[in-house]
Amino acid sequence: MPLPVLSTGLGLGGIEVASAAGVWFRLADGRRVIDASNTAAPLGHCHPDLVAVVRGASGSPALNEGWGWRGRQQAADDLLEHVFSGEEDWVGAVRFCTSVSEANDLALSLAQVLTGRAPLVTRERAYLGTVGLSREVTVQPQWHGGLSSAHGGYRPVPKLADVRQIPPPSCGVHARCAPDGGCHCLPADLAATLADVAAVIIDYSQGGVQPAPAYQDQLARVAREAGALWIADEAATGLGRQGRWLTLQRGQSRPDIVTLGKGLAGGVTPAAAVVLSQRIADMLRDQRWQSFSTFRGHPLTVAAISTTVRCIARQGLVERADVLDAVLRRRLAEIAAAHPCVRRVAGLGLHWTVELRGGSWREWHADTGEPTPADRILAAALDAGVLIAANGEEASLFIAPPLIVSDGELDTILVALDRALAVADKTLLAALADPVLPTAGGPALPAAAKRGVPAGA
Ligand SMILES: Cc1ncc(COP(=O)(O)O)c(C=O)c1O
Repeated sequence: MPLPVLSTGLGLGGIEVASAAGVWFRLADGRRVIDASNTAAPLGHCHPDLVAVVRGASGSPALNEGWGWRGRQQAADDLLEHVFSGEEDWVGAVRFCTSVSEANDLALSLAQVLTGRAPLVTRERAYLGTVGLSREVTVQPQWHGGLSSAHGGYRPVPKLADVRQIPPPSCGVHARCAPDGGCHCLPADLAATLADVAAVIIDYSQGGVQPAPAYQDQLARVAREAGALWIADEAATGLGRQGRWLTLQRGQSRPDIVTLGKGLAGGVTPAAAVVLSQRIADMLRDQRWQSFSTFRGHPLTVAAISTTVRCIARQGLVERADVLDAVLRRRLAEIAAAHPCVRRVAGLGLHWTVELRGGSWREWHADTGEPTPADRILAAALDAGVLIAANGEEASLFIAPPLIVSDGELDTILVALDRALAVADKTLLAALADPVLPTAGGPALPAAAKRGVPAGA
């Protein structure tokens, strides 16, 4: 009897990947499919430079963060040269980590120490990690580490920290609140909310939200005036995914701390980083920030970080994601208009969310073994040669292929999505015709029914 391996599902169960190259997976059943939702693989799979560097680094000693290692400084230098190019007056120091959960926990706890305050603020629907304070600020209810039963009901993990939520922005990079570029999304009492808070942490993609630069700049100003630190989580969006090295670079303001991860080491080793502003780094002068973890800044990880950052720069992948933003914006808007089942499409660069009518992100649906609408869509996309990820309970599909995706491969992804959404249309129309079935979010039909959020909001 084999030992069961526990996991979290992010899409169809039972898929086994046997090997990969570029944007392609070879599945264990022999099928070759495009990996269309993987922010951890900006260079695709088995990029020759990454394979070579990891092979070379496998001869490295087993070192923890306490030992000096030239490759670690080299990775910091590469970040400075590319990701933080032009940010030399702002950026102060970096600490490498093994996951963004860890990086966010470190950043939040540092903010608590520096401010002498405990409460934390994030926005509704945030997913920011699964350990310590990062789990506390993961306010997306079903991702907080609790247990859901196939027979109904959800048992949450008790809260350990005072975490307050602000509404998510309804504006976006291409959908500003006001013609003058201002933002009206932040609550009027934000200053009061932040008055005794250690930090406000925001990301740029969760729940299909890409706040406009004005949202960021206003949040930064109010946080600074309130004495709260601002932490920008660029785990999913950093390293070019949304057409900039960092999405925050679309705004004028700069945070106190940035966290990076996911594709930071090209997906070949676990990697993350906490990047401090010069102001925060100065506050640490003459102090020891005592916090240990065995594999932080491991020789293999830092070698992969250097290579990933250099390859993204050399291959012009940040600029390419910016160009593809317009292509995806147009094609996905067309697809959304053609499918009654689509409630909303939102995204930036090469990071897109297709939200279906029906489920609600506020509700938790345990895995009952019954295929969800999202499962059916994923299965249809797979039949068309594309592996897409979905957040089952809210029926959101994620399109985030490797940054190296070619025009032809992107077209294959969009054609597969278009075909797969037809499956959900049929379910929706059947539900509308049968009053006993759930009406999948309301009786209205396509264009008029869609929540009117333009692509990119
Ligand atoms: C925005 C964001 N922050 C933090 C995390 C947590 O990162 P990790 O899985 O490396 O702990 C994730 C992971 O999905 C994320 O998307």
